[in-house]
Amino acid sequence: MIILGIETSCDETGVAIYDARQGLLAHHLYSQVAIHADFGGIVPELASRDHIRKLLPLIRQVLNEATLSARQISAVAYTAGPGLIGALLVGASIARSLAWAWQTPAMAIHHMEGHLLAPMMENPDLTPPFLALLVSGGHTQLVEVQALGQYRLLGESIDDAVGEAFDKVANMLGLGYPGGPALEKLAKKGNSQRFHFPRPMTNRPGLDFSFSGLKTYVMNTLAKTNGSEQDKADIARAFQDAVADTLAIKCRRALQLTGLNRIIAAGGVSANQTIRWRLKQTALKENAELFVPSLQFCTDNGAMIAYAGCLRALAGQQSSSLEIEVRARWPLETLPPITLPCGVLLPPANGGYCLDDAKTKKRT
Ligand code: KG4
Ligand code: ZN
Repeated sequence: MIILGIETSCDETGVAIYDARQGLLAHHLYSQVAIHADFGGIVPELASRDHIRKLLPLIRQVLNEATLSARQISAVAYTAGPGLIGALLVGASIARSLAWAWQTPAMAIHHMEGHLLAPMMENPDLTPPFLALLVSGGHTQLVEVQALGQYRLLGESIDDAVGEAFDKVANMLGLGYPGGPALEKLAKKGNSQRFHFPRPMTNRPGLDFSFSGLKTYVMNTLAKTNGSEQDKADIARAFQDAVADTLAIKCRRALQLTGLNRIIAAGGVSANQTIRWRLKQTALKENAELFVPSLQFCTDNGAMIAYAGCLRALAGQQSSSLEIEVRARWPLETLPPITLPCGVLLPPANGGYCLDDAKTKKRT
């Protein structure tokens, strides 16, 4: 079972090939950062147009790298939502057209399920049940993963997603787009003792999040300073610490509530080192194990879509329909469970590749 995975939900064009026997065979990503940087955020129309330009060359590239012909692809998996409708439509149309031309089935994959399964792709020891913290540009969710494909939403942000808050605060601090990595870099120069920002919604019970008040707090604090580089670095540090603490407090609460002893974090924000470190501490305190993807699989990528597609294909969920269906919103809990045939064990992503290498390279 060899799956071609296509990701075009936002501003990254990701393509990968995952083999149920050998693991990840090839993956490539084209980031549109340079296109959107001048606008300080993603311009949906430009994103769609660029996915059109980049997708077919990237597909050719991964096929070449994996030394495969189109005939050897068993199914095409693509991100069908949630995301920007125009961008999703590009991936969905190309995926369904290729599947039709190659006479293979196609599979509509949920973007957040891709993120959620990414730690499993790299860790053969990780199997459900576990707790998942999903933190991206559009989502902040705590999910109980009861079994493969069986998800219970425990809590989510009632306003801004955590990645969105990082991007907006970065914008206030005069950092470019995308804001998250730039803010993390600036926070390294910040003094952690100067400001203390609130940990929103941690004083009341429940597992929901809210980050928009924290954003206002940043704005008011910034207005009271001279706006020097050191002021901005101190604010970035205080904001990042507040977010990391808030996420850790809620994860700890969710572990206690569910009695689970494994937790994963995934999505773009899980690339943040302070957040990873705070979650690690929390997991240790709760006698739980933390799994996070390697940095290249935290942010959007085609490998997670190919992997999710492979699991769903093994469960017999391919479709030969020609309908191109995409969804801007799509609750994770409505997905069908993934029931794998007895004895199916997938290899880890690094079965074929050295994941430490920035440019994926075949192991000899
Ligand atoms: O998962 P992702 O690549 O795309 C979505 O599905 O949204 O997440 C992108 C988000 C952006 O808001 C970006 O600023 C944030 O993840 N991000 C980070 C870091 N790297 C990416 N936030 C904080 N620290 C980082 N190192
Ligand atoms: Zn994402």
